Order: sequence, then C-alpha cells, then structure tokens
Amino acid sequence: MIRAVGLTKKFGDFIAVDGINLNVNQGEVFGFLGPNGAGKTTTIKMLTGTLKPTAGSIEILGMDMKNYPIEIKRRIGVAPDEPRIYEHLKGYEFLEFIISIYKLDKTEMKVKIEELCDAFEVDYLDKLAGEMSHGMRQKLMLISVLMRKPEVLFMDEPTVGLDAKSAKILKELLMKYAREGTTVFMTTHILEIAEKMCDRIAIINKGQIIAEASVSELKEKYRASLEDIFLSLTATNDIKDIVDSL
Ligand SMILES: Nc1ncnc2c1ncn2[C@@H]1O[C@H](COP(=O)(O)OP(=O)(O)O)[C@@H](O)[C@H]1O
Ligand SMILES: [Mg+2]
Repeated sequence: MIRAVGLTKKFGDFIAVDGINLNVNQGEVFGFLGPNGAGKTTTIKMLTGTLKPTAGSIEILGMDMKNYPIEIKRRIGVAPDEPRIYEHLKGYEFLEFIISIYKLDKTEMKVKIEELCDAFEVDYLDKLAGEMSHGMRQKLMLISVLMRKPEVLFMDEPTVGLDAKSAKILKELLMKYAREGTTVFMTTHILEIAEKMCDRIAIINKGQIIAEASVSELKEKYRASLEDIFLSLTATNDIKDIVDSL
C-alpha cells in the first residue's frame, strides 16, 4: 500500500530525511516513531504528495507518485499536524466542500457525519473555522477524513491536541478501520501510542530509520521496554544527568 525507496529531502545543505525505505501492507497500523525534529512530518508530506522529494521514489496503492499524484490524493486521507481550514467557512460548509470535491454520496455522508460528530462530541458545525480552537478544528478535520473511509490513512501526530476521550475514540476507530482493511500510517513521538496501537513501527532519528520491526520483535531483540529501546536508540544524553542538573 505504501512503498518508499531511498526517500530523501534536503532543505539547502540540511538533510531532513536521509534515504529511507518504507513498506506498509494492507490493513496494517504502521507507527512512524521519533523524537521532535526527526523527520516525521517531512516524510508524511512527501508520502502524501504535498512536498517534492529531493531523491527517491514513492508508490502508494501501487501507483508511482510522480505519475499519479491526483489519483493517489483522491484515494488517500490525510490528517496533517496543523489543521488548516479556510477560516471563513462554517464547519458544515467545510464538510460540504469536501463532499463536493471528492464527489461523495450526500445521504451516506450525512449519516457518517452524524455518527462521527456524536463520537467526537462535535456540536459546533455552525461555527466559523476561524472561531474554533485548535482542538475543535482538528476534530473537524478528522471527521472530514474519516467520513470518506479512504483506503490509506496518513495521520501526523493525530492525538496531539485532542482531549483524552477524543484521543481514545480516535485510537479505537483507527484500529477498527485497520481490521476492516484500511492501511494506517501514523507518526507519533509518544511511545505508549505506538506500543498500544501499531502492528509495526519504524523509529526515525535525524532523518534515518534506526530500527524497524513489530513491537514484540523490538522488545525481544533488545530485551527491554520499548521506552528504554527508544531512548537508547535516539538519545545520546543521560536523562538522569539532565534531570539532576535542572
Ligand atoms: N521547510 C523547511 N525548511 C527548513 N528546514 C525544515 C523545513 N521543514 C522541516 N525542516 C527541518 O527538518 C527537520 C525535520 O523536521 P520535521 O519533519 O518537521 O520533524 P518531526 O515531524 O519529526 O518533528 C527539522 O530539523 C526541521 O527543522
Ligand atoms: Mg512533526
């Protein structure tokens, strides 16, 4: 469903993503785990066609991004880390806009929207996006993506900024969609999320994938908790020394 070979992004001389390879199968929840600045968002932007790679190739749903960018965008769903919604649109106007550009069935979507609004406690569709809080816009964005039930879902730090109940519902929903065949690619810097939700994870640090396996394989390989693995693979400083010095 998702395949990247030698994917690279340079900003000037700085290499943000350094020749990574990815393979994600249908129905998998794939966690792209790494500390702040590791290259997660840059990678997801390339995989979803919003940022041009410096080098490397991308295939989504078996199609090359260079040749089929429109078809790919039509069939995937993307929840970016920053929910940007035209501020003069009301919530329901934004959803109607999505329904029209993706040519979705209005009656079917009305039912889905009601269900998702109930689940995420969204009762503000008559508010302007510009008057919504970050979390409110994020939930609206999530509804606009989830209602389409796309074949591949890309989520950049999906639970950041959500209240506890909404985050829990989102996690359960993503796992349910995956059981039903949707492929989920999500970034996170939160270990517990990767550990609980993902079938397989890759750890990215300074633009390079430094480990990739199922959660259980990673634990077995390093004989430690995932937190220790993550820290030992990504951190160079001793946490205790840092805390002591503060
Ligand atoms: N447009 C840009 N111009 C220059 N540097 C960038 C740009 N976008 C990201 N970077 C840099 O690339 C690195 C990876 O960023 P990012 O992919 O956003 O990390 P993450 O999402 O893992 O926190 C960071 O050092 C960041 O400062
Ligand atoms: Mg990011």
